[in-house]
Amino acid sequence: MEKNAKIYVAGHRGMVGSAIYRKLQKEGYSNLITRTSAELDLRNQQAVTDFFTAEQPQYVFLAAAKVGGIIANNTYRADFLYENLCIQNNVIHQAYKNGVKKLMFLGSSCIYPKLAPQPLKEEYLLTGLLEETNEPYAIAKIAGIKMADAYRAQYNCNFISVMPTNLYGYNDNYHPQNSHVLPALIRKFHEAKVNQQAEVNIWGSGTPMREFLFADDLADACYFLMQNYNETGFLNIGTGEDLTIKDLAILIKNIIGFEGELTFDSSKPDGTPRKLMDVSKLHALGWKHKVSLEEGIKLAYQDFLEKHS
Ligand SMILES: NC(=O)c1ccc[n+]([C@@H]2O[C@H](COP(=O)([O-])OP(=O)(O)OC[C@H]3O[C@@H](n4cnc5c(N)ncnc54)[C@H](OP(=O)(O)O)[C@@H]3O)[C@@H](O)[C@H]2O)c1
Repeated sequence: MEKNAKIYVAGHRGMVGSAIYRKLQKEGYSNLITRTSAELDLRNQQAVTDFFTAEQPQYVFLAAAKVGGIIANNTYRADFLYENLCIQNNVIHQAYKNGVKKLMFLGSSCIYPKLAPQPLKEEYLLTGLLEETNEPYAIAKIAGIKMADAYRAQYNCNFISVMPTNLYGYNDNYHPQNSHVLPALIRKFHEAKVNQQAEVNIWGSGTPMREFLFADDLADACYFLMQNYNETGFLNIGTGEDLTIKDLAILIKNIIGFEGELTFDSSKPDGTPRKLMDVSKLHALGWKHKVSLEEGIKLAYQDFLEKHS
């Protein structure tokens, strides 16, 4: 990407989009275009057509999506499927129509079958049934990968897809019901500390294993891949390291300084038992994460304190 290239970061106020935006600024890119969802509703086909026709971006990072945790995914099943399909269909099609040089589509590790062997290799896509709670979201993301591939095959578009593991970082969503596990735990422990609660009750058994990547590390990987990866299919982005939800909770508890007890509510859904990315392809290309989980949680907690307390 040339330093004066016109780059559209879709979803620039979100956790991922804002990290990509910061990374591009840091690397000296100044011709960045952004729109909030209020200014440009990416579900609106005509609005997206008009935007691409007028702006003619050369590169696109598609980090706009309807995103949420397990409860939001399961409750708003129709919205997660419909809105994500609309957003990605409109942006990918208009990127083709307007000759975008390269587009990156961001998916998520939930595209893998629920019981796929671990760690998750890229070739396990579509080899089994999906996790029921986030199936609509995963179906939309799989459609996005296939769409990028189809436009590459039929129209020779350089559209690539990346599937990040669970993310956390600056500008995360700390909504009490709609957030992902790590920010939800930060909020819970923070509130428990402030309210001097005796215990914190955690949804699920605490035994599922999860992997977490700091969003600024993801942005660094996206930037790296935008220059070094031009293939069909997709690439996993993660750390290749995981831990149990219980160990994660203990880590967050200690960072926040909550001194009460931890209990687990096994009546709540656990989701997939383990979700660890195989990142050997990414490592072979020459990229590795830099921020440790402990360091990243400390930074995320600082950001939470500045914005939400
Ligand atoms: N969070 C994670 O753990 C995680 C993990 C793996 C992959 N990802 C992927 O990363 C991408 C971004 O996730 P995120 O965590 O950054 O989400 P986020 O913080 O919720 O941000 C989503 C962004 O999408 C924009 N958006 C949503 N609906 C829109 C619409 N109809 N029109 C225009 N813009 C719209 C929002 O814009 P406004 O702010 O202007 O409303 C927001 O900035 C997603 O594709 C997601 O699948 C996330």
